[in-house]
Amino acid sequence: MIERAMDSKEWEWTSRRLSLLRKRAVEWFHVNGRDLPWRRTSDPYAIWISEIMLQQTQVATVIPYYQRFLKSFPKVNDLAKASLDEVYQHWAGLGYYRRARQLHDAAKIVSETHSGIFPTSHQDVSKLPGIGRYTVGAILSFATDQRQPIVEANTQRLYARLLHWPEDLASKNSQNALWTFAEQVLPAKSGSGIVNQSLMEIGSQICTAKSPNCMACPLNSLCPTFANGSQAMIPAPKKPKIYTELKEGALIIRDDRGCFLMRRCSADERWAGLWDFPRFDVTDHANPSSAKRKLRQEFSKKFQHDVLIGRELNQLKHAVTRYRITLQSYEAILESTPPKKWVADLMAQGLEVRWLNAEELSELAVNSSANRLRKMLFKNGV
Ligand code: ADE
Repeated sequence: MIERAMDSKEWEWTSRRLSLLRKRAVEWFHVNGRDLPWRRTSDPYAIWISEIMLQQTQVATVIPYYQRFLKSFPKVNDLAKASLDEVYQHWAGLGYYRRARQLHDAAKIVSETHSGIFPTSHQDVSKLPGIGRYTVGAILSFATDQRQPIVEANTQRLYARLLHWPEDLASKNSQNALWTFAEQVLPAKSGSGIVNQSLMEIGSQICTAKSPNCMACPLNSLCPTFANGSQAMIPAPKKPKIYTELKEGALIIRDDRGCFLMRRCSADERWAGLWDFPRFDVTDHANPSSAKRKLRQEFSKKFQHDVLIGRELNQLKHAVTRYRITLQSYEAILESTPPKKWVADLMAQGLEVRWLNAEELSELAVNSSANRLRKMLFKNGV
């Protein structure tokens, strides 16, 4: 266990040390900060879009998406008026489509309850779907320079080192300490936006997880972790995630014109609103014939029609939240031609299905594992 309190007086975050930290961080940022498109605007709507895209996606990937998105939906009302499918099309490739759906829902709320003007009060912004504590702080401090703290992956690591904080950062105690420091670090009057941006940039460009570039860090003389040489131990390594293993089967069903049967995930399912191949859980069916039997049964129950399952296609592994899923795909056809009103009947029961040709399939907003299956189909020449 690493000592929490290094010589406590020396490293205490007094107002003098905090003000030095701000000064050094901001000076460094003016020279070294990256010129990113969302740093050139003070429009809270644009900053919000960038922050949602930047959750779980790297800066270099986000840039072209951000630019295209704002070109198509320059104002919050444009986004509110768009269909969810249009929003998904702009999101295709970024993954985590839930973000896109919440963005769309939030835009509709802003359009209806804030006359299309993105709110700038803490209370109003926090109420919007998909906006957590970090995102509120980022939007309000970057766009309007409000004194709002931020803690995300980069600042979290930096603050843990500046505090020489030895505990697992996921604990409530750690989060309280990090958010308290994030607030202390902000200037009393103006300048919170630039201080937050500067610290985030130092976290991302200098104070990296594996080999922080402490020699180039403008904060090194203020950093107890650097002084103690404990960069490898702080932050504490994350507890390994415990996964539950699942097995699923996906059916690549084609009709006699070569069209694919796709279904839309409903609001109460994972990947709500996105499209998928018919897919079922077969976790308890270890051998292939038992898995196929289960798939046949489940398909009949859900789709009100029988299916014939043919050869195995490829297998892929993917993770969703705490599940690790092995997905086996199969070639399949419907056992007989379904009645004309089959699709409409399913729709009436809340199951949206479509037969799509290869071109239509290629444009469909699908979840990421269905996207991998689709790529496999196209690669093998559908
Ligand atoms: N990661 C999350 N938000 C970011 C931002 N505004 N700039 C760069 N990286 C980020």
